[in-house]
Amino acid sequence: MVGRNNHGVNYHPLVIISNLTWNRGGIMSQETSKQDEISESQTPEQESPQVETPKGQKPATGGSRFFRLAGMTASVMGNYAKSKVSTMFRSEEKAEEIRQEIHRQSGDRIAETLGQLKGAVMKVGQMASMIGDILPKELTQKLMSLQNEAPPMSFDVIAKQIEKELGATPDELFDDFDREPFASASIGQVHRALTQDGEDVIVKVQYPGVDKACDSDLNHLKFALKASGLLKIKKQVVDELFEEIRLRLHEELDYLQEAESVNLFREQYKDVDFIIVPEVIQDRSSKCILTLTYESGDHISNLNDDEDYPRETLNLLGHRLMEFVLQQIFVHQTVHGDPNQANFAFRSDGTIVIYDFGCIKTLKPEIVTAYRDTIIAGIEEDYDAVDEGLIALGARIPDGPKLGEEFYKPWRNILFRPFVHEEFDYGTSTIHTEVVERIPLLLKRLDSFQPPKETFFLDRMIAGQYESIRKLRAKGKFRELVGNYLNYQF
Ligand SMILES: Nc1ncnc2c1ncn2[C@@H]1O[C@H](COP(=O)(O)OP(=O)(O)O)[C@@H](O)[C@H]1O
Ligand SMILES: [Mg+2]
Repeated sequence: MVGRNNHGVNYHPLVIISNLTWNRGGIMSQETSKQDEISESQTPEQESPQVETPKGQKPATGGSRFFRLAGMTASVMGNYAKSKVSTMFRSEEKAEEIRQEIHRQSGDRIAETLGQLKGAVMKVGQMASMIGDILPKELTQKLMSLQNEAPPMSFDVIAKQIEKELGATPDELFDDFDREPFASASIGQVHRALTQDGEDVIVKVQYPGVDKACDSDLNHLKFALKASGLLKIKKQVVDELFEEIRLRLHEELDYLQEAESVNLFREQYKDVDFIIVPEVIQDRSSKCILTLTYESGDHISNLNDDEDYPRETLNLLGHRLMEFVLQQIFVHQTVHGDPNQANFAFRSDGTIVIYDFGCIKTLKPEIVTAYRDTIIAGIEEDYDAVDEGLIALGARIPDGPKLGEEFYKPWRNILFRPFVHEEFDYGTSTIHTEVVERIPLLLKRLDSFQPPKETFFLDRMIAGQYESIRKLRAKGKFRELVGNYLNYQF
């Protein structure tokens, strides 16, 4: 089984703004507010369907599933109450220590329960961690590591699911169907096969029952998170974020929709010879089965400045990744929203293979315009326009305090460094560490900033690809490239 890579930490400032809403490092946890208070009416409904789990695990039946989730919620609620009581007469320092410990316990409990239940609820947790990093880092890491350990489904289950979905057995539908999984998918697994036309394909098979549990699991998780006191963002923002997660999740559960996204990207990149998008085998696909041409490639971790991938090739791949980012935003306004490094593969001829079209986000034209305008305003040091641009992007609270040069200039100088000189070497970039160092300053401005929900996926994509370009240690003329797509002369 091919392991999946964890999502990199996100250093994009807008992603960080959404991170800031977390109870991090104790900075935010001094005050408690109304938004933590839980009312009875928020309790998730009792419906909790049966989910089949992979071989070797005890299936969580409807009832036990519900009780495990309910137990988790009760436990984190208990923790929350405990933190309130036990910090009441303590020094601020001691109280903070207790709060941190209790939050850690709640995070552990949530991760542990999600891990036991697998399937939908784990996917929910991953989505929640993906979208705007609304889960604490520690919990996110636990969820990602759980996924790496998910045992494969037995071939029997896979064969039954294929028969149910496509009306015939794998052996009737394919010339050859590999019984061993080739890779793990987040809500299913990937097998290699040969079509009757002799085409090398992969078949992504969704675990049966995953879809049914999603909404109730999502409600449970939202409730538990609210109850844990771990979330420090406004109730309305939590609800909006979870609604966004729910929509993306349902999209991701529908492989026919993913097939459409594959076709869309194939069309958009048909003239870009360095981007490879698989082809859908439509008559071997359904809502829970996705059959695609097999496209080989090397994982970024295996690209090491050697004979196969000499320095020039790595530079070229980095330059092309950046071009792919720019094309998604400024040409097609369609974003591949899951920059997980397992979703990209590379070839020594300098081509990039794209996998996983389960999370595609179309950008509103006004968002693309605002993005471009804000970047150019930043380059030109027009800080009034930067402030307005961030309002248009939904990152700056419109009626919050206005910010100017003093606040923005240091950010500008860090983020635009790749464009100061003609050439930039991502191998020596310290942008990510410098951004992290500035987080405390941003934290003091939470009356001005909020998680920008329109640009979550865009920001994540940029932050994820920054990590990849840095990993390639790519050096090149990035300023010219960006200028071309911004239609801007540096
Ligand atoms: N067309 C393909 N050719 C070769 N490998 C593929 C292809 N599609 C997916 N894979 C492999 O399967 C893994 C999981 O597929 P993916 O579509 O990313 O599933 P998920 O949406 O659940 O993450 C990928 O990371 C990749 O290693
Ligand atoms: Mg994937």
